Amino acid sequence: AEAPPIMAVPQAGQDGLMLLKRIGKVDPESIDDYLATDGYAGLRRAFEMEPAQVITEVKDSRLMGRGGAAFPAGIKWESTAKQPATPRYLVCNADESEPGTFKDRSILEGDPFALIESMTIAGYAIGAERGYIYLRGEYPRAYRMLSNAIEKARERGFLGENIQGKGWSFELEIRRGAGAYICGEETAIFNSIEGYRGEPRTKPPFPFEAGLFGKPTVVNNVETLCNVPLIMQLGGAEYAKIGTEGSTGPKLFCVSGNLVRPGVYEVPFGATLGDILELAGGVPQGRKLQAVLLGGAAGVFVRADELDIPLTFEGVRAAKATLGSGVVLAFDDTVDLSGILLRIASFFRDESCGQCVPCRVGTVRQEEALLRIMHNGHDAKAKGNDIHILRDVGLVMKDASICGLGQAAWNAVESAIDRLGVLEESKSR
Ligand code: NAI
Ligand code: SF4
Repeated sequence: AEAPPIMAVPQAGQDGLMLLKRIGKVDPESIDDYLATDGYAGLRRAFEMEPAQVITEVKDSRLMGRGGAAFPAGIKWESTAKQPATPRYLVCNADESEPGTFKDRSILEGDPFALIESMTIAGYAIGAERGYIYLRGEYPRAYRMLSNAIEKARERGFLGENIQGKGWSFELEIRRGAGAYICGEETAIFNSIEGYRGEPRTKPPFPFEAGLFGKPTVVNNVETLCNVPLIMQLGGAEYAKIGTEGSTGPKLFCVSGNLVRPGVYEVPFGATLGDILELAGGVPQGRKLQAVLLGGAAGVFVRADELDIPLTFEGVRAAKATLGSGVVLAFDDTVDLSGILLRIASFFRDESCGQCVPCRVGTVRQEEALLRIMHNGHDAKAKGNDIHILRDVGLVMKDASICGLGQAAWNAVESAIDRLGVLEESKSR
């Protein structure tokens, strides 16, 4: 059965939004609604330019990837477009699976034509003739909305042969995941689309040189792509004035946990953690904020007295934290954080693809050590030894795992120990 629509966009209908401007205002199944609200204005502008100029605009915008890694989108596009090998492919990573992440879902379900338009511009810029949307399998409504949007766009000549008489053709295909978190890793997506096991490949080669079917490929997150029509309309330099020097544009945050109004929030880059929590109404009356997990299960816990951290790429870097996929998950003083750590450890143990030893074994050892600490809570020496094991295993996973899953599987536990004092390291070690 299809899940009910998420109505977790508390700003829906507000003026001044850039990425969420249509959510709750238009019928996501109607291309006429889309066209009446600036839809395809970005593609029209892009078609007035040569593909190389479109890439220049995206470079000038200093748009950084919104999936988690914050790589400059324009550089990715340029390095792919420069490859002599053809065909080139465009892949949209819509396998949104990081725990606490639901921002892309709001666009996919509430404004699907925006993604179709964005991918068409990206395809034109890099010289691709085919794009894939790799969609999280647990998003059936998004699948329905995107399938409808692709069909309608094709009927109106915005996809398919000779788009809008431009003499360039572009097709889009949706591929649905089957529930594996690891299939959101870009090279595991390639394997999955090609019909192999969803396991990451070693990098290099990077996708821009050898990606899908071994061809030059751009992989961008949904939110990243959906900034592109805005960049086309404003121009790259003008777009770059939104936000801060190091983090340009609007940003979506997935705000959840013990808060009055959880949901997806859009702000120009520059807001602090405290600002975002305030937007969401803060913790319910009578409770106290204990900690915030930034960036998802692969992210970092910060303390309740660190609310002045600017949620920009440079701000979180300076605070030794991460934005990850835009997760802001708040815990009040009623939550047992050691139980949350165990849940995170068990998630990574479960989702490890098992291909490399540090992650396959390390995620199991991490969970075991946490379980022992919780069950031997009063034995200070044993606890000290287990925290020592956690640190050793964490270091090996970070240093020697093939992909981000293993490299980040210890982040949250490490930050909970070091920043929050959860598990209270024993002095008897
Ligand atoms: P990465 O740092 O390996 O790569 C970043 C991107 O830049 C990739 O697309 C890579 O191909 C590209 N790239 C790297 N060097 C390049 C070069 N020289 N030229 C052109 N392109 C280059 O990071 P990865 O593994 O792709 O992403 C990790 C992040 O994903 C984590 O920070 C995590 O927060 C996030 N994540 C997000 C999830 C979600 O649901 N949104 C789920 C799980 C993780
Ligand atoms: Fe698989 Fe983990 Fe290795 Fe990534 S780090 S390839 S998920 S075993």
